[in-house]
Amino acid sequence: MIKPEIRSFFHEGSNTIGHVVHAPGDKRCAIIDAALDYDQAAGRTRTDFADQIVAHVREHGLSVEWILETHAHADHLSAAPYLKQQLGGRIGIGEHITDVQKLFKTLFNVEKTFNTDGSQFDRLFKEGDRFKIGKLEAHVLHTPGHTPACVTYVIGDAAFVGDTLFMPDGGTARADFPGGDAAMLYRSIEKILALPPETRLFICHDYGPGGRAIAWETTVAEQRAKNIHVHQGVSEPEFVRLRTERDKQLAVPALLMPSIQVNMRAGELPPPEDNGVSYIKIPINKL
Ligand SMILES: [Fe+2]
Repeated sequence: MIKPEIRSFFHEGSNTIGHVVHAPGDKRCAIIDAALDYDQAAGRTRTDFADQIVAHVREHGLSVEWILETHAHADHLSAAPYLKQQLGGRIGIGEHITDVQKLFKTLFNVEKTFNTDGSQFDRLFKEGDRFKIGKLEAHVLHTPGHTPACVTYVIGDAAFVGDTLFMPDGGTARADFPGGDAAMLYRSIEKILALPPETRLFICHDYGPGGRAIAWETTVAEQRAKNIHVHQGVSEPEFVRLRTERDKQLAVPALLMPSIQVNMRAGELPPPEDNGVSYIKIPINKL
């Protein structure tokens, strides 16, 4: 089993962690879950964070084969199109992004020509799909619950779990977004925790609970022993009760509206109106 080299980047604006993955001695890489900076109040995007990744890739002479999303994020805009333009590579996401597109095409009443077939992405992954990152073998687990389209990328001895699991002391991500489902999340987590115990798990968000330093790497064994929401012995009904109670107390993420409208388009802004400007919409009294 190849142990990929992984360099992770922490995005302070959204507490997101993006990862660059490649086999030792192989320059061909994938970038996973890279954020674009977005100032909501000013309606302005920036590429400071993405540029750190671009600099890392160039400095190490890496060539980008894949730009992967674990799901359509609801708390930050994706930098995928910018990275593709700067570095090349193909943008991939789970095939159920089409469900997310259908849901939000209606909610945001976007242009009639917006396709809900996932064609904005270069590749739609389904459960069990295999692909290569240079000489690294990767496969895909469909792990819905946080959103219907969430996937986990298993790459060598590492798995990129998106927002299914947080660090053990952070528990799990919310399951109350449209199309989310706590019971489904529990079953997806079981699928991840059935990987070999030594599998390294790389997560997508961390909030440093209790003031500890930001972290993003754990293992299947550690999650089974210590995850505060789903350690071994927690039943599905127990988890669903806890997750549902917790979700009732959580506020809507600050960047939910722009994130969804952009990320369902593989990170592209909505098409400019007749004055050449792109707009983000806010449906009133709908969420
Ligand atoms: Fe998420």
